Amino acid sequence: METLRFPSDFVWGAATSAFQIEGAAAEGGRGESIWDRFCLAPGRIANGDHAQVACDHFHRFKDDVALLADLGIPAYRFSIAWPRIFPDGRGRFQPAGLDFYGQLVDELLRRGITPYATLYHWDLPQALQDRGGWPNRDTVGAFLDYVDIVTRTLGDRVQHWFTHNEPWCIAMLGHAQGIHAPGLRDGPAALAAAHHLLLSHGQAVPIIRANARNASVGIVLNLTPAYPASDRDTDRRASHLYDGQFNRWFLDPLFGRGYPDDVAEAYRHHRWLPDGPLPFVRPGDLDTIAAPCDVLGINYYTRAIVRAAEREPAGSPPDVVPPAPSEELTDMGWEVYPEGLHDLLVRVHRDYAPARLLIAENGCSHADGPGPDGRIRDERRIRYLRDHFAQARRAMDQGVPLQGYFVWSLMDNFEWQCGYRQRFGLVWVDFETQRRIPKDSAAWFARQIAAMPARFSADAPSKKD
Ligand code: FCB
Repeated sequence: METLRFPSDFVWGAATSAFQIEGAAAEGGRGESIWDRFCLAPGRIANGDHAQVACDHFHRFKDDVALLADLGIPAYRFSIAWPRIFPDGRGRFQPAGLDFYGQLVDELLRRGITPYATLYHWDLPQALQDRGGWPNRDTVGAFLDYVDIVTRTLGDRVQHWFTHNEPWCIAMLGHAQGIHAPGLRDGPAALAAAHHLLLSHGQAVPIIRANARNASVGIVLNLTPAYPASDRDTDRRASHLYDGQFNRWFLDPLFGRGYPDDVAEAYRHHRWLPDGPLPFVRPGDLDTIAAPCDVLGINYYTRAIVRAAEREPAGSPPDVVPPAPSEELTDMGWEVYPEGLHDLLVRVHRDYAPARLLIAENGCSHADGPGPDGRIRDERRIRYLRDHFAQARRAMDQGVPLQGYFVWSLMDNFEWQCGYRQRFGLVWVDFETQRRIPKDSAAWFARQIAAMPARFSADAPSKKD
């Protein structure tokens, strides 16, 4: 298989998040998070799974860093668990929590791996949820206290910071659809949560810059390119609205355009918003949210094909057309559509022109496990990654300033409401024994990384130099 050509300073990495891998839920003075609580409620998580132990990474982080090093993966994106730092959300600070991340970062650096830290990957301290969570504007201040102490402590060693991971998922899956923690079904609360997430991002940017010299700061959005199901005007409009709810509602304010009117209008129609100005926006908020950043992180998994809802009044939420049975699907039921990554990158670059872009997550769930010889032949994952890498490269050829690519995930882990059955890892985890086995895709990724800069670097010195 031919190796793709990427610039020699292109960053290759693997990603995880705290709640999904750490376990040790009651150790180091950690407080309860909304996901701990959500897992306790019967029927919320497939198979009754929970993350009290998960990949036991809290105890095995050195081995996991060794895995990264053995594979030659040069960068690692992880998240910091707020309830380890402030068990009660704010006020009482837990030094043991910060020590853990200090040790993790030191171990990464010792092995020559660049840390990329995400400050919020969904695990809000339950104590803050009890006071209203993200729909309550006070949570913004609590987040800033947390950001301040974390970046003051780690800012000398971590240069790459992301504020939030996927505000759409936090707001909509957590507060409108109720399938993620905190499990609410309240549209107005979801929109308030989205605003406070964006506001807290904007307010965190200068704090991070002050505490971490030369830091690169950004946010990570899950963006889903939308394609109309047909050429009909109604489907085109539905697709545009879907794009609005999913993508523009976050991109527009982050890039200084405020919230998109057409989407606000649709939300008014559904009584998620009252008539008139947006109730949660205060003077100055939109300027704060548009704080210039160094990088935009994008998580891409699949696309949406959208058609207008039939027999519904105008302004109804668009229908997403399920992929046809002939389409290749991952175990999540998500269509494999590599071209979507190219289209998305080109579009974000054209419409918003972020200084730099980074794929903060891309990958697929397939349950392929060890064969009789112990080897895991996850050919579908290799194909998925190869085809998506190629589309990223194509976008770069069209001028997209893509800086790096992080595969989700380093290892199989707790996949939220789907529990442990969905396996996204490059590395297999046996959750009974905690044994890790690199899959064929890990070896393939390692070979790609090893080959790219040395043999194919676009900007490597020529022989004459
Ligand atoms: C993303 C999440 C990540 C993981 C992948 C599969 O939405 O950021 O934690 O669950 O999906």
